[in-house]
Amino acid sequence: MKKEFLWGGSISASQAEGAFDLYEKGISTEDLRFYNEKIDRKNVSKDLYMTPEKLKEIIDNQDDYFFPKRRGIDFFNKYEEDIKLFKELGINVLRTSIAWTRLFPNGDENEANIDAINHYKKIFEVFKKNKIKLILSISHLEMPINLITKYGGWKNKKLINFYFNFAKTVIDNFNVYTDQWIPFNELNHSTFFTLGLFENEENYLEKTYQAFHNQFVAACKAIEYGKKQNRNNLFGTMIGYMYSYPKTSDPRNVYKCMNDNWIKNDFFLDIMIKGEYPWYSKKYFLDNKIDIKATKKELALIKNNVHDFISFSYYSTGTTSHQNAEETSGNLFSVGKNEYLDVNEWGWQIDPMGLRIVLNNLYEKYKKPLMITENGIGLIDEVDNQGNIIDDARINYISEHILAMKEAINDGVEVIGYLMWSPIDVVSYSSQEMSKRYGFIYVDANDLGQGTYDRIKKKSFYWFKDFLEKERMNN
Ligand code: BG6
Repeated sequence: MKKEFLWGGSISASQAEGAFDLYEKGISTEDLRFYNEKIDRKNVSKDLYMTPEKLKEIIDNQDDYFFPKRRGIDFFNKYEEDIKLFKELGINVLRTSIAWTRLFPNGDENEANIDAINHYKKIFEVFKKNKIKLILSISHLEMPINLITKYGGWKNKKLINFYFNFAKTVIDNFNVYTDQWIPFNELNHSTFFTLGLFENEENYLEKTYQAFHNQFVAACKAIEYGKKQNRNNLFGTMIGYMYSYPKTSDPRNVYKCMNDNWIKNDFFLDIMIKGEYPWYSKKYFLDNKIDIKATKKELALIKNNVHDFISFSYYSTGTTSHQNAEETSGNLFSVGKNEYLDVNEWGWQIDPMGLRIVLNNLYEKYKKPLMITENGIGLIDEVDNQGNIIDDARINYISEHILAMKEAINDGVEVIGYLMWSPIDVVSYSSQEMSKRYGFIYVDANDLGQGTYDRIKKKSFYWFKDFLEKERMNN
């Protein structure tokens, strides 16, 4: 029987849940990211790095800052209302993540917090009752701060077992609610908040790749365990796919661009899907004096526990030049400007055709089912005098990207799902703003957490609901 196409959305624990101190939750890296009123929207990537001094200053002076993710959108309390809205919207899948610090406040405990587990079970029961499939990201761009201050973050191999203890607890407790898992969201993003490396550490690049290696091993341990528990469990990769075009047809640009695409994107998929370090990584490691510690046992684990499907986020594309060239923002990092593309308020380039290209490339290279687990546009949405939110730019963005995906399917690519980011407004991951909105559902809160937190359906909500109804009728 043909499997039902997954139409849905993604959110994450740190950006949605709020309730940051409920059941003695520990402090995660995302609980320490503060809102900066003087934010430069086109250059937020500099805030993804940290020094020990800056971290100490933040921890010692927490009362001086507003930390938006501590409030999120209060999903941990409002989940029933939100899931009801998701049901009305007509989606059949929702991806969210588990906050590591709710189950293991410091990350290195042996026993998990039962109250937090039970609270998640209550939420997942409501998804089940509403027949909305759940996809669980075990870890979404955050970690207990204690694992950085005490152990030095992911460069330390001890984190493999701390993560495994967390992942095992997640699988044991929640496998009745899902059979699709993402061990790490956007594993290719090397920020302080995901890897726990300080920007001034010696041999930063070598440590970054050691940290990635340790995450690959941790993910594969989780896959090995998950498959033993239930052989129907499926595990997906998740990388932030940042595809680049050569700035011009100058062969030097073309060559550099090819290499950049391999190192920034395919390197991660090659390991997770093919089970080994790609041949081109040898030279990259040599050129950059990267010598990672990988045991034979770890490499065998990676080889024997590849991911089942490819999931990735797609927001925009960039360009590559062998010389200095004008840049603009992209998903977490800046990219080369493309004169053919428009940008949103944050400088992210809008490129639906790029999605078709990426889908074709990925399928040609890996021949695995593809799931788009994030795609959407950050916009400033205003409530007008009549209480309506007319977000035509979002409707245009999503409809053009869905069209590009359908064209790729028509090209012969196997796509199993389209999960937009995010069906409801959440706090922005990179900029900490509430006013960088992606949702079909508006949340009445501002950048300083002031507001009723009421939910309002935007124009795009009705458009997407209608679109899904038509899709179902035609299939
Ligand atoms: C992805 C993340 O990088 O992009 C999400 O997985 C994030 O967590 C999304 O929210 C959009 O980025 P931002 O910074 O605009 O929220």
